Amino acid sequence: MMVIRNMAASKRKLQLLTSRIIGARTMGAVPQKSPPASSEELMRLERDYSAHNYHPIPMVFSQAKGACVWDPEGNKYIDFLSAYSAVNQGHCHPKVMKALIEQAQRLTLSSRAFYNDKFPILAEYLTQMFGYDMVLPMNTGAEGVETALKLARKWGYEKKRIPKDEALVVSCCGCFHGRTLGAISMSCDNDATRGFGPLVPGHLKVDFGDVSALEKIFKDHGEQICAFLFEPIQGEAGVILPPDGYLKSVRDLCSRHNILMIADEIQTGIARTGKMLACEWENVRPDVVILGKALGAGVIPVSAVLADKEIMLCIKPGEHGSTFGGNPLASAVAIAALDVIKEEGLIERAAKLGQELRDQLVKIQLRFPQIIKEVRGRGLLNAIDLNNKALSPVSAYDLCIKLKERGILAKPTHDTIIRLAPPLCISLEELNEASKAINDVLERDLPKMQEQKPKVETSTLQPCDRCGRQL
Ligand SMILES: Cc1ncc(COP(=O)(O)O)c(C=O)c1O
Repeated sequence: MMVIRNMAASKRKLQLLTSRIIGARTMGAVPQKSPPASSEELMRLERDYSAHNYHPIPMVFSQAKGACVWDPEGNKYIDFLSAYSAVNQGHCHPKVMKALIEQAQRLTLSSRAFYNDKFPILAEYLTQMFGYDMVLPMNTGAEGVETALKLARKWGYEKKRIPKDEALVVSCCGCFHGRTLGAISMSCDNDATRGFGPLVPGHLKVDFGDVSALEKIFKDHGEQICAFLFEPIQGEAGVILPPDGYLKSVRDLCSRHNILMIADEIQTGIARTGKMLACEWENVRPDVVILGKALGAGVIPVSAVLADKEIMLCIKPGEHGSTFGGNPLASAVAIAALDVIKEEGLIERAAKLGQELRDQLVKIQLRFPQIIKEVRGRGLLNAIDLNNKALSPVSAYDLCIKLKERGILAKPTHDTIIRLAPPLCISLEELNEASKAINDVLERDLPKMQEQKPKVETSTLQPCDRCGRQL
């Protein structure tokens, strides 16, 4: 009897195991049909199976080289976003690809539980190139920002002697520093913060570009403030440049109040604005610099925080890190990415072609003064600011769709701003093509769209939940 019961139990166990294996196979099964090839089908798959955390322009990247991109149907486009300034060196740069492939065949990951033979080379290269004692490697930009915030708090407690858990960080209205909780806690973007509270405490806001307001905050709370975090040019806010002399005044105020000046150069750095770092426009040396995006040449995520020993050594073994930060594959790519910037004169190229692009855009503005409010930027980080009322009911997004149909890939920031930030290797002919497309969209497509699109109330600006300003 006992034997029979045992046999029955074993049979049930076997059945359960078999059903689990079969179930697992069914769940993980690769679809048997051939992989989807058309743009339409790929976009449908993404809509059906991926979280809806982006609102992409309907164009599928399938292949890219330099400043050009092709979709699966073979249509060619010129890239004017560069993956939010991550592809400064141009798509699939041969030198970066060679470094990637050679390193991938040798060693990809050691973790920093051990040393590897590539990260130390990058560490020396980066610190010498940017003139800081040390680097802390991470992967994405947001992680770089988190690292800088933690470093600043640690320095604040250890060196500035801020009382326990009272450290404050000041950031700017309209800033963008990424999507992690720490980074959105600096933010003024209702979409980024609503529904995600409670945010990280210990934070004050100040208007970007307003020296007197910053001075007042430093005077009122300076003893508790460990850092001022800012973008030298606000990218996501719509390429907002501070007034001349701002960065110098910030440097001066931070030094006077013993507050760390932290420059988020994730979007503005690595030659994008016509200097290696945008802070160089005012010959200013921040205490902490955060790099990301183009440090990996659009190939692999690499971010880095640079600082001197006095600050960096506040972080001790075990207090911060990342499994992939400083991995040999990313290090090899970053070394090649920086070599390309130097060898191909991309700093000078960004400065020269950026001026050319703005000159062309200003000519278009003269033709459509009621539509284009302002053309602004530095190097190849530029924006066209459109007049909401004159554009209505058409949005900057609608214009970007039309630009795409004319072979130019750009993305709006906010409802009325189009950012233009091509890879720094773009040719003059490609720049001319883009200017012509922008002109044609405003001349030919816009009037038709305005006729066809139903009129809606133009949206009024929403006040920021955090600072109450209209942003
Ligand atoms: C200034 C700035 N900081 C941080 C980030 C976040 O970088 P990532 O998307 O790699 O996390 C971005 C991204 O756009 C950025 O522009």
